[in-house]
Amino acid sequence: MSENIIEVADVSFRYDRDDVLEHINLDVPKGAFLGIVGPNGSGKSTLLKLMLGLLKPQAGEIRLFGKPLARFKDWSRIGFVSQKANSFNTGYPATVLEVVASGLATKTGLFRFMGSESRKDAIEAIRSVGMEDYLHQNIGELSGGQQQRVFIARAIVSKPEILILDEPTVGVDHQHVQSFYEMMEILNQQLGITLILVTHDIGAITSNVTHVACLNKHLYFHGEREKFEELDDAEVSSWYHHDIQLLSHEHELEGV
Ligand SMILES: Nc1ncnc2c1ncn2[C@@H]1O[C@H](COP(=O)(O)OP(=O)(O)OP(=O)(O)O)[C@@H](O)[C@H]1O
Ligand SMILES: [Mg+2]
Repeated sequence: MSENIIEVADVSFRYDRDDVLEHINLDVPKGAFLGIVGPNGSGKSTLLKLMLGLLKPQAGEIRLFGKPLARFKDWSRIGFVSQKANSFNTGYPATVLEVVASGLATKTGLFRFMGSESRKDAIEAIRSVGMEDYLHQNIGELSGGQQQRVFIARAIVSKPEILILDEPTVGVDHQHVQSFYEMMEILNQQLGITLILVTHDIGAITSNVTHVACLNKHLYFHGEREKFEELDDAEVSSWYHHDIQLLSHEHELEGV
């Protein structure tokens, strides 16, 4: 029997009057690479915040590593890169190495006094995102896509078992999206990190993930990629009210 890292059981949530999420049931098995897809406002970031305990559901239960969220304390087992990570203040005076080592701050205290062990861990994390040539570069001098890699390195430096990323490929151009997914594959396959990635881009995600979840207030589908691929396109688009932007690359190319 496979172990679930996250279990979402019949969760409903509203900020004020209207439900943003209704009766969500979603398990994330250890080792999976789960892509959660849905249009703007479909509740993707809200669902991640519920999983991270930043919001509390009005109904249902969330378990992390088999424990009810309220009793879960071991947050170093979970890495998170938020949707706003790209809008980082580029004037911030810190090098790539310092930013990544700051992900160990809770363990080591002030990262300025980085020990050799922390330095080694930080360099290893930087290497796994392919940014080793930029160790001493100021974070503000990097491109958006490079900064994104540095934030991912910061999220994995404490060696979490699961990494959760909210819209990491927004602003990454087509050519670099593939190398972004290659990096994800290294984290998932070689480092054994379970991944949850939220995106609009069904086309790119479904060729790279092991599991797909289709969200739009309700969870319309959740399962292995192969099962998702057997679905009828018309059915998938009906969940998204025929939101063209959400359809796969093949559809986009038809119009070129
Ligand atoms: N703090 C908040 N207070 C009230 N309503 C909110 C709050 N945050 C989000 N919402 C609403 O909840 C719904 C879901 O928002 P959420 O941010 O989860 O969507 P999303 O799928 O992540 O969208 P996007 O693709 O734009 O990031 C939206 O209708 C949004 O307006
Ligand atoms: Mg969002």
